[in-house]
Amino acid sequence: MTRIRPVTELDIEAICRIDEQITGRYRPEVWEDRVAYYIRRDPDSSQVAERDGRVVGFMLGEVRGGEFGMEEPTGWVEFLGVDPGARGGGVGRALIDALASRFKAKGAHVARTMVRGEDADIDAFMRRMGFGPAPVTALERRL
Ligand SMILES: CC(C)(COP(=O)(O)OP(=O)(O)OC[C@H]1O[C@@H](n2cnc3c(N)ncnc32)[C@H](O)[C@@H]1OP(=O)(O)O)[C@@H](O)C(=O)NCCC(=O)NCCS
Repeated sequence: MTRIRPVTELDIEAICRIDEQITGRYRPEVWEDRVAYYIRRDPDSSQVAERDGRVVGFMLGEVRGGEFGMEEPTGWVEFLGVDPGARGGGVGRALIDALASRFKAKGAHVARTMVRGEDADIDAFMRRMGFGPAPVTALERRL
């Protein structure tokens, strides 16, 4: 049984642990900053998934508007991770559904995300969740 609820600062340790399992890096200061940012900006949108009282997944995002000349409020999905031992059981889907309904409740009619070219698994997951190409192009310049 998966329970989805809004993230709190008490979840930072569990999020660090999941991130460490995914990336091999333990980065408490990074996640302290990120989680504090999302809680401050949009306290209801970012969610964690619990199984048997243990946090097994997280998804951080927020509603923003007016970027890239697009005035409509957009729900941005920005960081996600599911414990490798809990994958394939609908945790990721439950998290994205929860963010989508929070985004909608805050007035957004579209959700967007950016996926690195090398993250084929996240790309496949997002497409499975109904995401498709957006009418924007990501450009960069090395500094
Ligand atoms: C992508 C991720 C969130 C998926 O989580 P999950 O709990 O396994 O996903 P679910 O079980 O809810 O899967 C939902 C659907 O997506 C599909 N899916 C999930 N991962 C997939 C993949 N890699 N390729 C293709 N489809 C995939 C599932 O088959 C499922 O489809 P269905 O419901 O139609 O059968 C998880 O694999 C993950 O955390 N990956 C690493 C993320 C990462 O690198 N984060 C760091 C950067 S912020």
